[in-house]
Amino acid sequence: MKFFIDTANLKEINEARKLGFLDGVTTNPSLISKESVFNQKEIHKHYISICECLKNDENLSAEVISTSYTNMIQEGEKLASLHPRIVVKIPMTKNGIKTIKYFYNKKIKTNCTLVFSIGQALLAAKAGASYVSPFLGRLDDISYNGLNLIREIKSVYENYHFGTKILAASIRHSLHITECSKIGIHAVTSPLNVIYSLFNHPLTDIGLNKFIQDFQSKIK
Ligand code: E4P
Repeated sequence: MKFFIDTANLKEINEARKLGFLDGVTTNPSLISKESVFNQKEIHKHYISICECLKNDENLSAEVISTSYTNMIQEGEKLASLHPRIVVKIPMTKNGIKTIKYFYNKKIKTNCTLVFSIGQALLAAKAGASYVSPFLGRLDDISYNGLNLIREIKSVYENYHFGTKILAASIRHSLHITECSKIGIHAVTSPLNVIYSLFNHPLTDIGLNKFIQDFQSKIK
């Protein structure tokens, strides 16, 4: 399973790279607004810098702000022209689905975002989205089981051999990641701190301390 990180922060992206767990990056307008970028030119420069931290088979999902069909196409084409590693992230709306279909025909990669139901995932796949992003955590927040949605999307996609890759988003904790890996989806996009939490187990700490103590008590 691929590990994407959900951030627009270059320091975090480089940290994930050094850790050896970086298969791609996803951003959204809220995440980009946390960075020191104050106009479109700076945002585009920032996206290029993120792409330069990535390797050839990795990509960055950069989201459009527009909501009309014509503007989403214009904005998406601009984003796609910034760097070959950019995947245009488009919201799940009627205009969004039309835009995804347009980009599919132009061979521009897309990530259909803000997906919360099987019906939406089905539309994204039929339109030819490269990725679909179901939001686990936001569903859990309103007492729907986000992981069930992931299981169901996977089975629907398998029924019809859709090529759209499932990129689980809105990851809140390590169980989301480990359960997604059991389901067998393509990728998760997670905050870096959730990836770090996968390291934790009290028996690892206890075991390591004991090994060191035993060694140091006998061997000078
Ligand atoms: C998806 O690509 C989004 O950027 C993201 O995962 C949203 O997560 P949140 O619900 O933690 O904001």
